[in-house]
Amino acid sequence: MIVKPKVKGFICTTAHPTGCAQNVREQVDYVKRMGAFDGPKRALIIGASTGFGLASRISASFGSGAATIGVSYEKLPTEKKTATPGWYNTVAFDKLAHDEGLYSKSINGDAFSNEVKKATIELIKKDLGKIDLIIYSIASPRRTDPMTGITHSSVLKPTKESYSNKTIDFITGAMSQVTIEPAKEEEINNTVKVMGGEDWKLWLEALDKEDLLEEGAITIAYSYIGPELTFPVYRDGSIGRAKEHLEATAHELTDQLQNKGVKAYVSVNKALVTQASSAIPVVPLYISILYKIMKEKDIHEGCIEQMYRMYKDKIYIPLIESDAKGRIRLDDWEMRQDVQAEVDKIWNIVSEDNKNRYIDLDGYSQEFYKLFGFGIDGVDYDEDVDII
Ligand code: NAI
Repeated sequence: MIVKPKVKGFICTTAHPTGCAQNVREQVDYVKRMGAFDGPKRALIIGASTGFGLASRISASFGSGAATIGVSYEKLPTEKKTATPGWYNTVAFDKLAHDEGLYSKSINGDAFSNEVKKATIELIKKDLGKIDLIIYSIASPRRTDPMTGITHSSVLKPTKESYSNKTIDFITGAMSQVTIEPAKEEEINNTVKVMGGEDWKLWLEALDKEDLLEEGAITIAYSYIGPELTFPVYRDGSIGRAKEHLEATAHELTDQLQNKGVKAYVSVNKALVTQASSAIPVVPLYISILYKIMKEKDIHEGCIEQMYRMYKDKIYIPLIESDAKGRIRLDDWEMRQDVQAEVDKIWNIVSEDNKNRYIDLDGYSQEFYKLFGFGIDGVDYDEDVDII
């Protein structure tokens, strides 16, 4: 099949197998170029197929030789329809790892369910014994609570009052003003149910119950803070409430598992183009401005650069580097005063007429298409490709 991008809203409904594989290979090559570090040896990555989770898996495996088990929830291909990109990424990752003699097995299913937890636990018992790193990198619009069977949906809304600001449609490039009405209390609670720490805790408890946590194991989940201009829709919004819950869960887990010396952290990462962040209003415009500034200052990073730096410079060092609230700060360069001062300046003046001068829309859209395996050097998109 000849596979071309088909974009609907902020999602592309096709994915290119060769492009996705090339994308994974480039990340592997980055880690190899940067060199080995003494990090995790047996890792479980929950949400391992795209974005930060995939980069965490690649860095652990190719940077530290870790055996990895990855859990993700991706759509398989059919005769007529391509798989979701995470499916092709996972196939490519498994192959590259196996080619280098690295242990890698992947489970595709709903990480929120008891069944997938059970299957993962059986696999760890059979193949790895105990694990020393658990990455929790799920971004999902909904979660079915395994206890109640109720499906909760998350929303991306402010919590206090309606919020208006500039935004951009990164597919057409059109700028507009968006107004978002505040979430109702029930919507906030549902967002916390989906994106808060409840499921992370259930995973750790299930692993601990089966005695699968190595003494001194580390577990990390990912959060975001960002600048004041996105506070209403992010940090003070419904998703921010979920992130607060996630951060509180880290402290609870560290207390709960102190007899094993297990430490739970939240890493506050940089705003990046992923399937998850493309869905948030206002944020794509902020990211397009941020990318331009960070590229000009030569401090721009993607998921792989962030995750490699997290392990090498923040975690696997004698004393883990964290802020006053115990969070790892990979948003340190994004939040630099000089960077944010420029973002503010541009945010106030950017408009439909001058946007080409001030924002890196091309960079945003290239990154977006790349998530689905498109626009990657060396891939012939006119060639017939096997999608299964
Ligand atoms: P992503 O959309 O690229 O990845 C999400 C992963 O979760 C995929 O592997 C997907 O298969 C998996 N997943 C979703 N639902 C699942 C389910 N029910 N069962 C099993 N796996 C499931 O997202 P991204 O951006 O890498 O986000 C990961 C984490 O990083 C999230 O917590 C997000 O809030 C956080 N983060 C993202 C930032 C960004 O700018 N993209 C910035 C800072 C933090």
